[in-house]
Amino acid sequence: MTSAVAPLLEVRNLCKHFPVFSQGFVKRQIGMVRAADEISFDLYPGETLGLVGESGSGKTTTGRAILRAIKPTSGCARFRFADGMDVDAAALSESELKPLRTRMQMIFQDPFSSLNPRMTVKDIVAEPLVIHRQARGSELDDMVDDMLRKVGLKPEHRNRYPHAFSGGQRQRIGIARALIMRPSFVVADEAVSALDVSVQAQVINLLHDLQQELGLTYLFIAHDLSVVRHICDRVAVMYAGRIVELAPCDELFADPRHPYTRALLAAVPNPDPDVRMSFDLSGEVADPGRLPTGCAFHPRCSACFDRCSVDRPELKDDGHGRWMACHLQDRDN
Ligand SMILES: Nc1ncnc2c1ncn2[C@@H]1O[C@H](COP(=O)(O)OP(=O)(O)O)[C@@H](O)[C@H]1O
Ligand SMILES: [Mg+2]
Repeated sequence: MTSAVAPLLEVRNLCKHFPVFSQGFVKRQIGMVRAADEISFDLYPGETLGLVGESGSGKTTTGRAILRAIKPTSGCARFRFADGMDVDAAALSESELKPLRTRMQMIFQDPFSSLNPRMTVKDIVAEPLVIHRQARGSELDDMVDDMLRKVGLKPEHRNRYPHAFSGGQRQRIGIARALIMRPSFVVADEAVSALDVSVQAQVINLLHDLQQELGLTYLFIAHDLSVVRHICDRVAVMYAGRIVELAPCDELFADPRHPYTRALLAAVPNPDPDVRMSFDLSGEVADPGRLPTGCAFHPRCSACFDRCSVDRPELKDDGHGRWMACHLQDRDN
């Protein structure tokens, strides 16, 4: 992305650590889960950044900490909106967050459990407008109908209940609800992961079209690399609470550098034989409550050498828009 434009979001050293307590009568803190640790990246207006990694790597925690669904332990998440609003979401109190809430939204994974089964489609989609007192009466109805059309549903669907819809249609209802307040920034957390592959493609196309039409900026979370490929401009790969590699999407797929990214990609079917890789991903995913010393990936890494079990590698850029946290970077230079 061009660096002449200021980022919409600057995340710096963002951490979310959860204390772990002992069982029994007297609860003592016995440890700390570093669910998101020293997360840093920029996100530009209109861009889609993918956040990928195995289950438990800290993707959801990162998304929720940025949106302030949970309070970060430390670090900052600075938003600069086109109208001049410039805030560090990580530093705001609950009441200070209110004007920010309408500008950022989350689309959830499971369209079956995230929609209230006792509410009609109209009430589900209209609820944010009602809560924030943005519209009522016929104006509200018109806004809901307009949003239903935008997500590929029909206004006559509005009095039905979620159970009457397929998985893909329910996800469209969830998207309509997230976008009705016209946010600038959207976190899509495994938004298509529960859907069939053919339906995934339709919903990804819809998210892409809506991004163009409404000028949205996405943080697109997925455990599946093949999903992010079709929508993301850049991709950040997470392992055990940290970003281990961040690169433009095409470059990441064509020339993955971190051994973990290589291993992840080797598991994705690739039609190009030059890109097919022989790395394998054996061993257990690191437990963010009991991280190995040095690089958290070193016990599973086929390229591991002595330094890796001692020093934790920092995320560093190569001066050409690629970032990596791996000691191979220094050794190769
Ligand atoms: N509220 C919580 N309390 C304690 N640990 C948590 C909490 N939420 C998440 N975790 C832990 O943080 C780690 C990252 O979780 P999560 O962000 O959900 O990962 P992902 O979305 O990549 O699957 C996991 O080890 C998870 O068990
Ligand atoms: Mg998750």
